[in-house]
Amino acid sequence: MKDTQHSCPDNGEPRSQSASCPSLKKIPERLVKSTERVRDLGEVFTPVAIVQDMLNLLPTNVWHPHPAQTFLEPACGDGNFLVAILARKLEAVVDALALVSDHRQIGVGRTLALESLASTYGVDISPDNVIGGTPGHEIGARERLLQVFSDWYAECLDEKLQSDNPILLSAEWIVERNIQVGNMLPFGVDGKPSGRAHIPLVEYSWNPEIAEVSVSITTFGAVMENAEIEVGDAPSLFGATPSKHLWTGSVFELYQVQTQSVTSMRGRTGGQRAS
Ligand SMILES: C[S@@+](CC[C@H](N)C(=O)[O-])C[C@H]1O[C@@H](n2cnc3c(N)ncnc32)[C@H](O)[C@@H]1O
Repeated sequence: MKDTQHSCPDNGEPRSQSASCPSLKKIPERLVKSTERVRDLGEVFTPVAIVQDMLNLLPTNVWHPHPAQTFLEPACGDGNFLVAILARKLEAVVDALALVSDHRQIGVGRTLALESLASTYGVDISPDNVIGGTPGHEIGARERLLQVFSDWYAECLDEKLQSDNPILLSAEWIVERNIQVGNMLPFGVDGKPSGRAHIPLVEYSWNPEIAEVSVSITTFGAVMENAEIEVGDAPSLFGATPSKHLWTGSVFELYQVQTQSVTSMRGRTGGQRAS
């Protein structure tokens, strides 16, 4: 690992001013894509400076890398909160790695980096925002997260991740499942259930010492049910549906695990990650 006072490239400065991420520094901050999208989706993105001010209100221990705190952005847009959250999580990984011996830093670091990514969830109703790859929506939230991950990896673990690297493939596997296209309101405009309850959700449990991860499957419905029980006034006799254990193995093999169908990274127009 490099000896570094790391500052992640997409962690708070307006993207146009970012010093160390060439792909993102060219992208000016865009708060509105079109008046139609403001009208139809309520789509106005939060300026990164305000994102940072809001995250600054959280207690610092929420960034502890293991076990990592889970964040869910239920209307994530193209990821302004998600990338800032991931950047803070990864900064905390750097601090944690300073406490382990040199020869363990890479192994522990790659697992904690994946744990940081995997504890970051988002949903948006617009595929353009999540997946990107369409005119005017070239880079979606998934790609931005992968860019932050890859840039951090190159800078802090001193390794440029090639497209066939199992860690990058596992990172892609994670964002394809954690950052989803979906309606987070319980009912659609037709008054029928929106399908939120059935959106599949992967839960992870990490062991950085041996680079191992366990994967379980649940649904947003079960998680929301649990949240509603926790915030409700009356005690409930019924707990949330337990998640179902699917697999345990090496972080290098996570990407090979089969789950229910997911919207692929480049499933729409062959959008490419900026490089
Ligand atoms: C005000 S923008 C906020 C975006 C992002 N959170 C940010 O702060 O930059 C609202 C977002 O909610 C999304 N959205 C609107 N209705 C939704 C729904 N029912 N479920 C999920 N996302 C929705 C829109 O596509 C839009 O990206």
